[in-house]
Amino acid sequence: MKRIGVLTSGGDAPGMNAAVRAVVRKAIFHDIEVFGIYQGYQGLMNGKIEKLELGSVGDIIHRGGTILQSARCDEFKTKAGQQQGIEQLRAHQIEGLVVIGGDGSYRGAKALTELGFPCIGIPGTIDNDIPGTDFTIGFDTAMNTVLDVIDKIRDTATSHERTFVIEVMGRGAGDLALWTGLAGGAETIIIPEEKFEMKDIVDRLKKGNERGKKHSIIIVAEGVMSGVEFASKVQAETNFETRASVLGHMQRGGSPTAADRVLASRFGARAVELLLDGKGGRAVGIKENHLIDYDIVEALTSEHQLNLKLYDLSKELSI
Ligand code: F6P
Repeated sequence: MKRIGVLTSGGDAPGMNAAVRAVVRKAIFHDIEVFGIYQGYQGLMNGKIEKLELGSVGDIIHRGGTILQSARCDEFKTKAGQQQGIEQLRAHQIEGLVVIGGDGSYRGAKALTELGFPCIGIPGTIDNDIPGTDFTIGFDTAMNTVLDVIDKIRDTATSHERTFVIEVMGRGAGDLALWTGLAGGAETIIIPEEKFEMKDIVDRLKKGNERGKKHSIIIVAEGVMSGVEFASKVQAETNFETRASVLGHMQRGGSPTAADRVLASRFGARAVELLLDGKGGRAVGIKENHLIDYDIVEALTSEHQLNLKLYDLSKELSI
């Protein structure tokens, strides 16, 4: 393999730049040329492809977003779109592709591999919802961003003796809500993976109030319901002054944490090694702090397992 490509796709995540850097540097270290494909699969179809040098990825390890930009591309879900992508790759004599993104990006990588073009998936999403890996790039940074907000909201919640509902991202997964709720000492965490009873939440809030608690923080995963809607239900049922805070896309930005930079660097280098070994249709991941790679189909067909022990723990610690 003499030339490879790299793209970022789907929702961006802090640490994607560190992964791009690792792919480029590792490949050049092995005398392989690297081409950056801009704007995800959309850019691939449109031939937005440029050679990357060592200096192209200088000074990006600490930057959020992705220098390659990203896009969500429906056209690439079609065979015609995928063929167009392969034609572009062949026109640039690119022989393997590293795709950094979430499950939608993996679906594209799998399709290209099945059409005879080897691709490796690197999990990059703040949602941490890719099956087969304990962590995805961006999750740690997003957690710290959310945590910073929880700590700040706690200050004002105490001053005003209010209940706060904080809605966090995660699409259909509750990881970001669960981990930040536990780390932020939330009284209640509501995630799609676990049923909840409004009565239990109200009882818990009232009990806390009776023992003199100055505030309560409820974290709601966006996959359950809107934080604004939930806050008005809470206020109606408790009569406690309740406010909602919807964090939104700020969770996707910012400089990646050390953990995300290291993870991204390890994933990027492993992806290049796999292509050098002539492998395609693999996803890289991390399990119990060991790098792994596995069939990308597994990442698309098995279910993401949220760590429910953390959920039980959060309940025990927030009595
Ligand atoms: O997958 C990352 C994510 O931020 C999800 O948490 C969220 O549901 C979604 O992307 C938002 O997508 P968009 O940026 O396209 O609105």
